[in-house]
Amino acid sequence: MKKVGILGGGQLGRMLLQEAANFPVDTWVMENDPNCPAAHLCQHFVLGDIRNYDDVYRFGKQVDALTIEIESVNIEALEQLEREGLNIIPRPAALRIIQDKIEQKAFYQQHQLPTASFVVVQNRAAVNDLVSFLPAAMKLGKGGYDGKGVQLLESAADIDKAFDAPSVLEKKVDIEKELAILVAVNQKGQTAIYPPVEMVFDPYLNLLDYQIAPADIQQKILWRVEAIALTLAKALQSPGLFAVELFLDRNGDVLVNETAPRVHNSGHHTIEAQVCSQYEMLWRILLDLPLGNTTGLHPSCLVNLIGEPGQSGPVAYEGLAEVLNMEAVYIHLYGKAETKPGRKMGHVTILGKDRVDLVYKANIVKRTLKVIAQS
Ligand SMILES: Nc1ncnc2c1ncn2[C@@H]1O[C@H](COP(=O)(O)OP(=O)(O)O)[C@@H](O)[C@H]1O
Ligand SMILES: [Mg+2]
Repeated sequence: MKKVGILGGGQLGRMLLQEAANFPVDTWVMENDPNCPAAHLCQHFVLGDIRNYDDVYRFGKQVDALTIEIESVNIEALEQLEREGLNIIPRPAALRIIQDKIEQKAFYQQHQLPTASFVVVQNRAAVNDLVSFLPAAMKLGKGGYDGKGVQLLESAADIDKAFDAPSVLEKKVDIEKELAILVAVNQKGQTAIYPPVEMVFDPYLNLLDYQIAPADIQQKILWRVEAIALTLAKALQSPGLFAVELFLDRNGDVLVNETAPRVHNSGHHTIEAQVCSQYEMLWRILLDLPLGNTTGLHPSCLVNLIGEPGQSGPVAYEGLAEVLNMEAVYIHLYGKAETKPGRKMGHVTILGKDRVDLVYKANIVKRTLKVIAQS
């Protein structure tokens, strides 16, 4: 049986492993926390630091193929393993572009992919000379995640909030809708695309708040999104599953925001709402099996379960029984022992007839199910 390694043991790894049980594969996970969400669902758990060269290299030497569930992994070790013949999906070259938002934006520009105009800045002081470029979104080149590497700078008064490190300063987009689309590329270069989804964000936490699939967009916008996503995935020249986040602005233009070369939060609904989930799709790609069918079975809404403000400590779930009594509502808990404000602890997928029905139920779920600390 093929040994496949996953770098990272978070919830994306956990859901990938839940699906692995249906495939002929021997699963290996490396993470530095023996109680991480994926630790107890894999066949072989290796304690190690995914950012450390030696740990990643040693781990790679034990498996036949390697994938990631988070971008912040040691890229030099992956490049060396690839030179030595290991099949790494996504390819390290594609991951290297994506790991740094400065390179990622340059890549969109090189491939004529529409994206918000930007300048690269080396530190906070450099932003002082760019006041006329504001309002802008400042994005850390490396190391940002879950909105923590993004700071909106409305005017000169916000410059003290700017990052003091190499970053992208990107024109603020007048956003009509935030969209995301998954593209699958197999080892033969064949592709499959999922219907785009629409995201609604919490302006305070900057974390995915709720998401609706399929996105409610005009046919011509849909074609534009699909064409951009396919062009982008092909330009990366790598097999894998790619999640492309986009903005539809108020002029009707579609802009690429960012890309993740892995299974993605915006694709959780595919477990229940699609013929082939994003997790199943990635196994098909990793094991060189045919691509799956991306047809949607039902409209869906995805609600993230995040740690309540002011609640830290061993986790408890309030309202679980009530939500389990609702129809066509699927709860996914990530098995994290401790909650803290804003931490992603699980998600709920709701299937429904239409948007009104979905949003109605999503609001009930959000009001009822709360992630709190044990008292
Ligand atoms: N240029 C922009 N204009 C307006 N809002 C933006 C811009 N860039 C990012 N944002 C907002 O910040 C959020 C997080 O930014 P993103 O680049 O996706 O970083 P992350 O890696 O944290 O997901 C976006 O989903 C969007 O709501
Ligand atoms: Mg994002």
